[in-house]
Amino acid sequence: MKQKILVTGGAGYIGSHTAVELIERGYEVVIIDDLSNSEERVIDGIEAITGTRPDLAVFDICDEAKLELFFQGHPDVAAIIHFAASKAVGESVSKPLHYYRNNIVSLVNLLEVLPTTQAKGLVFSSSCTIYGQPDVLPVTEHAPVKKALSPYGNTKQICEEILQDAVTSGVDYRTIALRYFNPIGAHPSAEIGELPRGVPNNLVPFITQTGAGIREKISIFGDDYDTPDGTCVRDYIHVVDLAKAHVIATERILSGKSSEKYEYFNLGTGKGSSVKEIVEAFEKVSGKELNKTYAPRRPGDVEAVYADTSYANDELGWKSELELGDMIASAWKWEKKIRGIDS
Ligand code: UD1
Repeated sequence: MKQKILVTGGAGYIGSHTAVELIERGYEVVIIDDLSNSEERVIDGIEAITGTRPDLAVFDICDEAKLELFFQGHPDVAAIIHFAASKAVGESVSKPLHYYRNNIVSLVNLLEVLPTTQAKGLVFSSSCTIYGQPDVLPVTEHAPVKKALSPYGNTKQICEEILQDAVTSGVDYRTIALRYFNPIGAHPSAEIGELPRGVPNNLVPFITQTGAGIREKISIFGDDYDTPDGTCVRDYIHVVDLAKAHVIATERILSGKSSEKYEYFNLGTGKGSSVKEIVEAFEKVSGKELNKTYAPRRPGDVEAVYADTSYANDELGWKSELELGDMIASAWKWEKKIRGIDS
């Protein structure tokens, strides 16, 4: 019998890539997604890659009654990976209460229902944003959590505190928070990838849309940072590597191997790349020169952040494998596919 893993937000960007890796490792995947920022055709993409169509339940997990009903139909869920959340930093500033409700109530509901199920624990989508601008680079898991610069970042901090408090209360499930650096790229098949609605906020979708002719030019936000080329530095990680880390974290929970009931790991490559380097990498991979311009710094941006990955490497037994070129090439292949661009 296959073990059943619940993936909330499994029709989303990182969730769909994780669903693929889980299915390929022999798990049964059930997805809950309210499709507020995703589309049902993502499930077709998962099926096209794996040959298996995961079950999709369309509802908002903030609805406690619906969540309880779901578990009545799936009492045999062995573990939960919780992605379902709102993730736009700027939007969180204009709609803070929506972010607090959506991101926090959903986690609380899952943790409340968890002890009534067979699930051994929950893997949580966290973010390097909780470190703010770290004092020391690369940033380790021991770095202090800094005051969040946005309601979105604050929800990630609060959710990690909720995980910690929940397990301290004596429950017998386990939790792992995975602190992502900057996930980019798409599945190499180009059957799934990132599907931002409207104008993308994030760098790589903006670049690929500019390459596809949908955006006129890419603005580089700030060229006067104290970094080698003056532009911000981030740790970009391939979404497929990130998805594989979720499978490993889930197996850690299933096997009861975790040393603590609440654990947290940085997921990055350990290598920082500047905005300029990302633009250049795209130009190299695509053979297209982008129309680019320098714009003022974007409020809330930190200057540089990249991960110390040794704890994830040694303790989780996970290491990123794919290079920046793979990340950009897969993102571009995906963009061309969804836009119907041939070459
Ligand atoms: C942000 C969040 C992070 C979240 C991630 C994904 C912060 C500090 N970080 O990461 O928590 O998980 O989004 O939603 O809130 N840039 C340009 N031009 C553009 C777009 C971006 O120059 O058109 C630059 C930015 O200034 C930044 C870099 O590209 O230096 C990366 O930006 P982005 O992709 O938005 O990710 P982060 O802000 O690092």
